[in-house]
Amino acid sequence: MKNIAIFASGSGSNAEVIVRHFQDSDLARIAMIVTDNKDAGVIERIKPFGIRVKIISPQQLSDGSLIESLTLAKIDLIVLAGFLRLIPKDMIEAFPQRIINIHPSLLPDYGGKGMYGMHVHRAVVENEEEESGITIHYVDENFDEGEIIFQDTVEVLEDDTPEDLAYKVQQLEHRHYPDVIEWVLTQLDL
Ligand code: GAR
Repeated sequence: MKNIAIFASGSGSNAEVIVRHFQDSDLARIAMIVTDNKDAGVIERIKPFGIRVKIISPQQLSDGSLIESLTLAKIDLIVLAGFLRLIPKDMIEAFPQRIINIHPSLLPDYGGKGMYGMHVHRAVVENEEEESGITIHYVDENFDEGEIIFQDTVEVLEDDTPEDLAYKVQQLEHRHYPDVIEWVLTQLDL
């Protein structure tokens, strides 16, 4: 049985879908939710599932104490689901190829610092792109730059608002993230 930690800063809709997916799994369990925001929606959302929630300060992320907690909890895989802080180098070294992220665009387009959530969708609509999508990737030291594991696309219609696009992209995220996490788990011991 593998242990997953989900990191989330926001509403936590992806976190909830992942938690539900692994509720009866023989492969992995969600051992911990980590958030850097004491007011994040994910905290209330996850309450019914009785999973440990760890609220961290920026200092705990950077001074190595979070790595210690994750190691103590025997975490095998870290899943970022709307976590907006940069993952420090020492954490990436402590969990090589064991930290993944989801991003609401077709990277390398519309990635990088400040490109998250609605900022992405507004830019895509403003630029009259015909296509957007999701990217799931391994995490490296830069925002949105690690090796890509999976992408899928959605059509951007001429009259789509950023909100319409956000909805379509979110549906795609919920459909694919749990299955991609399962695939990544199968790669851990290879
Ligand atoms: C998701 O759309 C995810 O792709 C995005 O934050 C949202 C979190 O939604 N992540 C990024 O933009 C990372 N750069 P949620 O809290 O409802 O799961």
